[in-house]
Amino acid sequence: MFKTPDYISNLKPYIPGKSIEELEREFGLTEIHKLASNENPLGHSPKANEAMSKAISELNRYPDVGSVVLREKISDKFGIPVENIAVGSGSEGIMANLLRCYLCEGDEMITSEATFIGFQVLARGRANKTHYVPMSRKTYKFDLDGILDRINENTKMIYLCNPNNPTGTIFTKKEFGDFYKQVPEGVMIILDEAYFEYANAYEEYPNSLLYRYDNVVTFRTFSKIYGIAGLRAGYAMGHSDIIKTLMKAKLPFEPNTLAQAAATGALDDDEFLLKSVKLNSEGYEYFKAELAELEKKGALKLIPTYANFIMLDLFSEEKVNTVNETLLSRGVIIRPLKPFGLANCIRVTMGLMKENQAFIREFKKLF
Ligand SMILES: Cc1ncc(COP(=O)(O)O)c(C=O)c1O
Repeated sequence: MFKTPDYISNLKPYIPGKSIEELEREFGLTEIHKLASNENPLGHSPKANEAMSKAISELNRYPDVGSVVLREKISDKFGIPVENIAVGSGSEGIMANLLRCYLCEGDEMITSEATFIGFQVLARGRANKTHYVPMSRKTYKFDLDGILDRINENTKMIYLCNPNNPTGTIFTKKEFGDFYKQVPEGVMIILDEAYFEYANAYEEYPNSLLYRYDNVVTFRTFSKIYGIAGLRAGYAMGHSDIIKTLMKAKLPFEPNTLAQAAATGALDDDEFLLKSVKLNSEGYEYFKAELAELEKKGALKLIPTYANFIMLDLFSEEKVNTVNETLLSRGVIIRPLKPFGLANCIRVTMGLMKENQAFIREFKKLF
């Protein structure tokens, strides 16, 4: 009927894993553990709830266009001026806006294969060319030298995800420093730090905010450790010119009133964050201990993680399918990684301890 550009017609939408409701319906299960989307199993802070409850009475009014209260709170928390902070409907919403604002005809992007699928969908939804640099199948880390090699006169943006979803791996301070020195000033680096709060405890992790480079835009989210994925709120930090452009071009009323309020409240609760990081570390120790024997026998490889999920290489797509289907039928939802280009691997979010135990119990039966 109406002509759409080929890159839109050919777009494959993001397909999320099975939902709890789908599984309940399909298998008639009552106890389901969703370890598939890297959400916070503890829910969210009561302070987010309090702030939302207050905001409910104002839902007849439009949200604050400038999200001033939320941006000031982010500014206080990270010691970054408000003019360097943009907000939007999830970090993906801001990323979409950034691509719309800055990609001109003929501009190209570079990223790695096996990185955040949301970015890949955004990239494929543009007429611009994106280069996907292969990733080492041994370390599952970004090949930063390979990315540097692909830079040409048309390169406008490089997308990096640290820690990377779905591998959980990071590039270190030294690796980032060496890489950054070789990126031309006119190339924008999108640094996606959706799992920053989990990774930041590690000495070798480069918190990109500490560098304050003019061509680096840092993306963070309220969807992961803050536990309000359903509300859609994220933030980006970077040079004031870029932020001004993002704030000017975003949909005027994003994030919505409840998202702005909940995110503002959530930022007040460091205790909740600490509790979440602690639960996550305990989950990781548990998984490592429980899977060590299978790893020694050569049945799998656990990729060391810096985030709230682990990736397991099961060495065959067939095994991944058996594991996934069996776990689903027993009420455990994990993420097979074929859509990310890693058909031999699964990703498991660290959940509550009883959820981790349910995964281990059912998973081990399959070996
Ligand atoms: C690396 C990464 N970036 C961004 C997002 C999405 O964040 P948001 O919910 O803020 O759009 C995710 C969610 O899975 C992610 O893994």
